[in-house]
Amino acid sequence: MVRNLCVMKYPHQVKTLAEYKAAYDKSVKEPEAFWAKVAENFSWKKKWDKVLDWNFSEPKIEWFKGAKLNITENCLDRHLPTDANTPAIIWESNNPKEASITYTYQQLYDKVCQFANVLKNNGVKKGDRVCIYMGMIPELAIATLACARIGAIHSVIFGGFSAQAISDRLQDANAEFIVTCDGAFRGAKDIPLKSVIDEALKTCVFVKKVIVYKRTNTSVSMKADRDIWWYDEIKKVEAQGNAACPAEEMDAEDILFILYTSGSTGKPKGVVHTCAGYMVWTNYTFVNVFQYKPGQIHFCTADIGWITGHSYIVYGPLSAGATSLMFEGVPTYPDAGRFWEIVDKFKVNILYTAPTAIRSLMSFGLDLVNNKKLSSLEVLGSVGEPINEEAWHWYHTNIGKEKCPVVDTWWQTETGGILISNLANVTPHKPSFATLPLPGVQPCLVDEQGKVIEGNNVSGNLCIKFPWPGIIRTTYNDHERCRQTYFSTYKNLYFTGDGCLRDEEGNYRITGRVDDVLNVSGHRIGTAELENAINSYTGVIESAIVGYPHDIKGQGIYAYVIYDGDHDHAETRKEIAASVTKMIGAIAKPDKVQFVSGLPKTRSGKIMRRILRKIAEGDTGNLGDTSTLLDPSLVDEIKKGAL
Ligand code: WTA
Repeated sequence: MVRNLCVMKYPHQVKTLAEYKAAYDKSVKEPEAFWAKVAENFSWKKKWDKVLDWNFSEPKIEWFKGAKLNITENCLDRHLPTDANTPAIIWESNNPKEASITYTYQQLYDKVCQFANVLKNNGVKKGDRVCIYMGMIPELAIATLACARIGAIHSVIFGGFSAQAISDRLQDANAEFIVTCDGAFRGAKDIPLKSVIDEALKTCVFVKKVIVYKRTNTSVSMKADRDIWWYDEIKKVEAQGNAACPAEEMDAEDILFILYTSGSTGKPKGVVHTCAGYMVWTNYTFVNVFQYKPGQIHFCTADIGWITGHSYIVYGPLSAGATSLMFEGVPTYPDAGRFWEIVDKFKVNILYTAPTAIRSLMSFGLDLVNNKKLSSLEVLGSVGEPINEEAWHWYHTNIGKEKCPVVDTWWQTETGGILISNLANVTPHKPSFATLPLPGVQPCLVDEQGKVIEGNNVSGNLCIKFPWPGIIRTTYNDHERCRQTYFSTYKNLYFTGDGCLRDEEGNYRITGRVDDVLNVSGHRIGTAELENAINSYTGVIESAIVGYPHDIKGQGIYAYVIYDGDHDHAETRKEIAASVTKMIGAIAKPDKVQFVSGLPKTRSGKIMRRILRKIAEGDTGNLGDTSTLLDPSLVDEIKKGAL
């Protein structure tokens, strides 16, 4: 019965290893025919003229060229005839005593239309950028979908980012509209989002409207003419009697959203995804990796402020008519059994979380796991960073009770959706390996010179040689930066920035970033951006950031700082951390700050990060060749002062 439903609903879901191999083969040999067939499963206002047009040199990548659609018709309208009463979003509060909320597809449709009309009433038009800075409440999903409904471009900013970080992003996108909350609940904390926005807007006078949803009842200041309450605006729409909101007709390659991510340079870049390709890719990967079956409850623990939430809480599941569980809080509140409690409460079938959460929960022992049933679980997922074998086995054994496959999904903000992963119960899992590419994904490993490394049992830098529908199209307002960052290191290849090895069976294992980007608790942080923030603290002359292995966060942040004048080290360390929190957000706070009199540099002035990394890792025995350093004696001083 379920199988029949799947076949009807998801004809593009591969069911066996043989089907995976056949789909993969076809996607490489006849990519256009392959994706045209997949795209039959969506609702289009007009079909495409050409499936794919591309070159990686500009880059120019166009999928389903000439097609017209609206992604919200695919996420909402088209499910109404059969699934109006199916839960679309189930929301669980931060506070376990507060009632959960379920929105069926009909209810979600109504809410999205209503808020889309609010946006319109306030002058938001197709192509306008709307910044969304909210906690994890259903209105966050509703606001993103409402933007998509009217063709406005959403730029969701994670609720942990600081005023300065918001201001940079608002300016880069020239976003004139903001949707926010008075505050957000996260664990025991109540984060005053609106006041952070107020601070950001001191440097963004071009912002015309701030729509504020009341969640925490924290008192906020409302600027006349600019700041308005969500609830009041909904009342106006109700009074106007505008129940529906027609879906704007979008071109396949119109921008759906911008999502900022840290890179190797100081300034975050606005990764751009477009309507048709992103929709097809998130849907295809959702249905295939998790092997979603109608009726299942899918719980992705990410925040919608990150790409994982965009793709696997909102667009992937909803485009598939699935039930997506959204959780406002944190895994350790009120205790470290919260995820497991939610799994039992809603009979969650698919749990998708990050290694950092698993490692953190592991550290609390098994008492809060073993008093739960967890019997509804069928598939476990991991995302955001390499999962170490210990965490993998703990997850598989204690949470999955050795009966659930673990899908280790490798992908990036830029890839829109999962590129390399096993498919639950279809292709085998292997601890700490993302395993095999999805149909449509053609990975290759290259050496430093860009030479492709053939065969198995090899390692190199991970590139992709052919576009998939969800690939980044540009970086907002700066196409050259997109070309330089991803398409210029190796000719005709998309460069991921990750190192990787391929085992004897062709399975891929991602070993971590090979560029100046750290991955701290699954969050990407560019070292240059962090150094800028530290250098802005008065008295800091120069700094260098490296990562070091951290039991829970995966990578910790180690800062080497040249600081001028007398100082109380403990106090200055605190102030430097506060300065980073102010410039970027608490997620980027350094774990260790070592004061140094100089940084090891080559004669050409380049910081030798390799040496700093070794010292931070506590591996000072063999620092390699230091003879090219301007001042080799510095190394001894830094070694002695290591924390
Ligand atoms: C890392 C998150 C190993 C990787 C979806 C990548 C992973 C960066 C995995 C992207 C995984 C993500 N195994 N590493 N399963 N998933 N990464 O843009 O270094 O926040 O380049 O996207 O996270 O992080 P981003």
